[in-house]
Amino acid sequence: MDVFWWVIVPYLCLATFVIGHVWRYRYDKFGWTTRSSQLYENRLLRLGSPLFHFGMLGVVGGHVIGLLVPRSWTDAIGIDDHVYHVVAVVGGLVAGAMALVGMVILIYRRRTVGPVFSATTPMDKVMYAFLGAAIALGMWNTIAGSIFTLGGEYNYREGVSVWYRSFLAFTPDASLMADAPLGFRLHALVAFGLFALWPFTRLVHVFSAPIGYLTRPYIVYRSRDARPGRSTPWSPRV
Ligand code: HEM
Repeated sequence: MDVFWWVIVPYLCLATFVIGHVWRYRYDKFGWTTRSSQLYENRLLRLGSPLFHFGMLGVVGGHVIGLLVPRSWTDAIGIDDHVYHVVAVVGGLVAGAMALVGMVILIYRRRTVGPVFSATTPMDKVMYAFLGAAIALGMWNTIAGSIFTLGGEYNYREGVSVWYRSFLAFTPDASLMADAPLGFRLHALVAFGLFALWPFTRLVHVFSAPIGYLTRPYIVYRSRDARPGRSTPWSPRV
């Protein structure tokens, strides 16, 4: 069973992620978009979206450091375990909380603003369920596992992270995950489920680097107003 969960399932998800993106690009190039709903509602989006996206940038950065940088490297440059732990927990909590609050605002908006709800697909709902579960389980690991050490001391840098690197190097060691606490195992599985869904959702927009966006001119929208010069221009991100 360990090989099934920690070798077969993760590689199947990875393969679906890679092949799915190639398929989507070839067959649905023009559907490769965020499917922005900014024209329907702007106030909640302006709050929820940056909170979620900047929070997720921090979460991704934290994962790159926590999963990809071996403990021996931070030891070698003299970062002691306690300092590492405090920085990781505080940074992880701030980033995770921003992502969580942002996501709650975005889901609330999607449910309560009529046109946004109408533009929500079943795939969006599945995606939000996986994303929400991944973030909630990740926060659970940080709070219950790393801060309160419920269920005993566990250093993910010697278990989960080593497994993740062995997985990326195509020499997976399933026993490392089999020994991890349940919260960490569930978190990793839900995250891999999300990776498998990724190419079939609006999350593909992550890979269309909006570099031209930084320099492109504003698109000006004006509301209808009979009196000349009275309408207020605004520029949505499309
Ligand atoms: C889209 C995928 C993922 C999302 C959205 C996600 C989200 C999160 C969040 C919000 C946290 C809380 C602390 C923080 O902000 O860093 C967290 C913690 C954690 N995640 Fe993930 N994660 C994902 C994928 C993964 C994967 C693939 C692994 C490893 C196989 C992983 C391993 C961990 C570990 C070990 C922690 C605990 C860090 C600590 O105790 O401080 N995550 N995750």
